Amino acid sequence: MKKLILLFTVIFLLSNCKTATKNKKVTGLIAEKAMVVSARKEASKIGSDILQKGGNAYDAMVATHFALAVVYPVAGNIGGGGFMVYRNNDGTKGSLDFREKAPITAHRDMYLDSLGNVIKNKSTLGAHAVGIPGSVAGAVEVYNKFGSLPFNELVQPSIDLARNGFIVTKKQANSLNNATKRFEKVNNFKTLFQKEWKEGDVLKQEELAQTLERIRDFGKNGFYKGKTADLLVNYVTELGGIISHKDLEKYKAIWRKPITFNYKDYTITSMTLPASGGICLAQILKSVEPFNLSEINHNSTKYIQLLTEAERRSYADRANFLGDIDFVKVPMDSLTNKNYINKRMSSFSWKKATPSSEVSHGKILGYESNETTHYSIVDQFGNAVSVTTTLNTGYGSKVLVKGAGFFLNNEMDDFSSKPGVPNVYGLLGSEANSIAPEKRMLSSMTPTIVEQNGKLKMVVGTPGGSTIITSVLQNILNVTEYNMGMQESVNQPRFHHQWLPDIIRMEPNGFTKETKTNLESLGYKIYEKNSLIIGKVDAILVLPNGQLEGGADPRGDDTAVGF
Ligand code: GLY
Repeated sequence: MKKLILLFTVIFLLSNCKTATKNKKVTGLIAEKAMVVSARKEASKIGSDILQKGGNAYDAMVATHFALAVVYPVAGNIGGGGFMVYRNNDGTKGSLDFREKAPITAHRDMYLDSLGNVIKNKSTLGAHAVGIPGSVAGAVEVYNKFGSLPFNELVQPSIDLARNGFIVTKKQANSLNNATKRFEKVNNFKTLFQKEWKEGDVLKQEELAQTLERIRDFGKNGFYKGKTADLLVNYVTELGGIISHKDLEKYKAIWRKPITFNYKDYTITSMTLPASGGICLAQILKSVEPFNLSEINHNSTKYIQLLTEAERRSYADRANFLGDIDFVKVPMDSLTNKNYINKRMSSFSWKKATPSSEVSHGKILGYESNETTHYSIVDQFGNAVSVTTTLNTGYGSKVLVKGAGFFLNNEMDDFSSKPGVPNVYGLLGSEANSIAPEKRMLSSMTPTIVEQNGKLKMVVGTPGGSTIITSVLQNILNVTEYNMGMQESVNQPRFHHQWLPDIIRMEPNGFTKETKTNLESLGYKIYEKNSLIIGKVDAILVLPNGQLEGGADPRGDDTAVGF
């Protein structure tokens, strides 16, 4: 009997202990004044050190960006591009487009064979896949407009990191080992990345250190002209690509008016075209706004259903209407108009899924890479910066510029090679996103800033290709509707729907069997088994007492550093 009582006592304590652990609120790093959250501790620390030296968020942006190019070569870059959304402490907001663009000699059918069929891998692997990089122009542009510390002090920590090396993590060793064969296939020399990597190895990149020195000393010209430009153009030409010196000299980052809209009593500012993030985020949140989410449980059948139907309609519009606004006319106001969105949602029923075959774009694009990266910064002066940057898929085109030590993007695949044919990740595109010389390819990047009552509330963004938009969406709703802290929000399992293919992608083991069965009985197709993680969200939340809480995604090696 005594034994039985003891057994019941142990079971009771264990079950209570489990409940307690389950209910314990997860909290990220809390900082009093300033914070950087990025894909790697080293990069976040370099950015945070710059802030501690008295630099502002823009100085930290430049320093963090170059540091990620060293310590996170899978997506951090100088051979890629990206977008930045900012909010200054006086409430002024803006955004910078440093997206890659098509070479001057690019043309609409450059990835098609003589029969008009898309040539496999031509837009994803090797020199033909490369768009003109925008990252260095972007960082220099940010510095010229807002920087406060000497430029060389912002680049030097990354030069040291490249020269002295850093410790390879387990996740990073796996990632590099998975890509080795493709490095070998694409390059005509043995790159320093071609070896069997293991956790704890030290990665030193002397050629990259020298490239960064040229950027440190000559700014934009250290990349787009002189030795770096020669190395880039010569190597791409050797591999059969079409990038010229003129392409590099002509590249400019562009300041653009971001998309700003209200969701309930929040003001949300996100990236405009050629990034589709802002428009799609506005469409989806406005589709959801009329529904009372306080009566719908987080990640329940109804919640997933509602978001899925809103996402389905928005991604159908994305595929048809969206492209580079410097080249195509996009009805942005109509697409984000409340009446238009309500009309789009009028076919939604709680009783059954709307098949994507019955949803076209309104009247008036598989999967992209998971290997983009995002960093969020808030400085001690109250300025906020949200940056998403990428090489497109992991290590981009896998072309490592000989003698210069950096990877080039494969962003050309974000164009629609042929209208109606999905890109490597399954996204469809139309004429609006077809290739033209110097045009920017459509992106899903969604660097975002949320305000409440005129005050900074949240800085958020993520990698994840087409799932970027829906990951940012879910984190905004986690915080604004479900009152979650930043780390708690980032840790939540995520799901995604993008019109076509007509499936709900779910992170494995994140959703209950009951929820999945309910969704299936309503006609939804669930894709979970081989689904990968969805996004790696790095975000900062301003707490009611003014402190900052970091949300660093445990799906990667992401880390918040602050003070
Ligand atoms: N390359 C991913 C994106 O820009 O959406």
